[in-house]
Amino acid sequence: MRMTNTRIFSALALLSLAACVGLGGCGPTDSNSGNASGGGGGGARSAAAGGSSAQAPESAGKGSEKSPAAAPAAAPAAAPAAAPAAADEILIGHYASMTGSEATFGQVTDKGIRLAVEKVNAAGGIKGKKVRVVTLDTEGKESVTTTVVTRLITSDKVVALLGEVASSRSIAGANVAQRFGIPMITPSSTNPEVTTKGDKIFRVCFLDPFQGYVMAKFARENLKLSKVATLYDQKQPYSTGLNDNFKEAFTKLGGTVVAEQAFSGGDADFSAQLATIRDRGAEAIFVPGYYTEVGNIAIQARKLGVTVPLLGGDGWESPKLAEIGGKAIDGSYYSNHYSPSDTREEVVKFVSEFQSKHGGEVPDSLAAMGYDAAMVLFDAMKRSPSLGGADLAKAIAATKDFKGVSGMISIDAERNARKSAVVLQMRKGKAEYVTTIAPQQ
Ligand code: PHE
Repeated sequence: MRMTNTRIFSALALLSLAACVGLGGCGPTDSNSGNASGGGGGGARSAAAGGSSAQAPESAGKGSEKSPAAAPAAAPAAAPAAAPAAADEILIGHYASMTGSEATFGQVTDKGIRLAVEKVNAAGGIKGKKVRVVTLDTEGKESVTTTVVTRLITSDKVVALLGEVASSRSIAGANVAQRFGIPMITPSSTNPEVTTKGDKIFRVCFLDPFQGYVMAKFARENLKLSKVATLYDQKQPYSTGLNDNFKEAFTKLGGTVVAEQAFSGGDADFSAQLATIRDRGAEAIFVPGYYTEVGNIAIQARKLGVTVPLLGGDGWESPKLAEIGGKAIDGSYYSNHYSPSDTREEVVKFVSEFQSKHGGEVPDSLAAMGYDAAMVLFDAMKRSPSLGGADLAKAIAATKDFKGVSGMISIDAERNARKSAVVLQMRKGKAEYVTTIAPQQ
């Protein structure tokens, strides 16, 4: 047992030991360990070392019926576990695409989370303890996600998880979190399946059926379009789901989908699909993908003489979209969770705090969602009688009218949030606010 390592049985240590037991097990007290990082900029960021984490055994077994207690602990992967929670710390885990073709998703979300951690700690922490976040890299891969989430739970012994951005990886992470009974909040995964994984899995963002409706309504009513084509990533549940949701809503509103084309994430050549779309006379192309492919699709569309605007969802959100797409993406529209130009007090404050910490960088929606997910978690931790999974999940479920940067957050019976969406237009390489669309009644 790790507890036997506890070195100094001073009255203080005994007290903290009792507290740890109450929390369902923190690690041994470890003087000064990573304390200074306190969740501030960059401390304890043990990005999983390259492929090594992928070699960890299939701990917690896919679909195995093992109880969490019987599940083998994650193998001591090459990258060492983060310093265990000190007696005066609460450890939370963030699993994120810090590298790979969706790297900005993970990196920016992490900045948002760390700003929230800094703020809660500056205000005295939670239950007399400081919060520390351990971030592990999913590399944008589902298999690595399963490994790092298992490790956060079994080695680092986090009391809660934040992550991921991409729905495919949140689904993978949710399977592990639910099995171990550790509450998880995804900041920004919008596919409905994520929160169906069980009573410990939450989200603070809207869902894709709503997002599909938003862009269909915008295309029909604002842009007055009647013929639209779609081009989606058949490998991502986010993309296939949103494609279906858009099609259904657009058709219901009286429009016609004149072509439906697919690609696979990682593809570099989209010319065959784009040629088909061009020949069908589409007035816009709905591309519910992630920014790397969307940028490339825009470039290739223009090369083929397709000049109509592209439409998309939140997966476009990245400074890289304009870097990759250049002028080709200008004029196109996408739905998103927030706009930094919103004048609500929460937004103005968040933007200025984030900018002063990150050299003027304007926080995109990933930062706002990471921040909101962390703040909702901290609010629940404060209200919860303990930080055990069952209590904490109940407290998260009870979240009502929480004033987030991305809007008011109330968790419903399905552990989802109902929120408005904004529509942004790319203009000269920047995403500019166009309109806000509220949930259907
Ligand atoms: N909603 C996307 C998904 O579920 C992820 C995403 C959210 C991407 C916000 C960018 C911004 O996969």
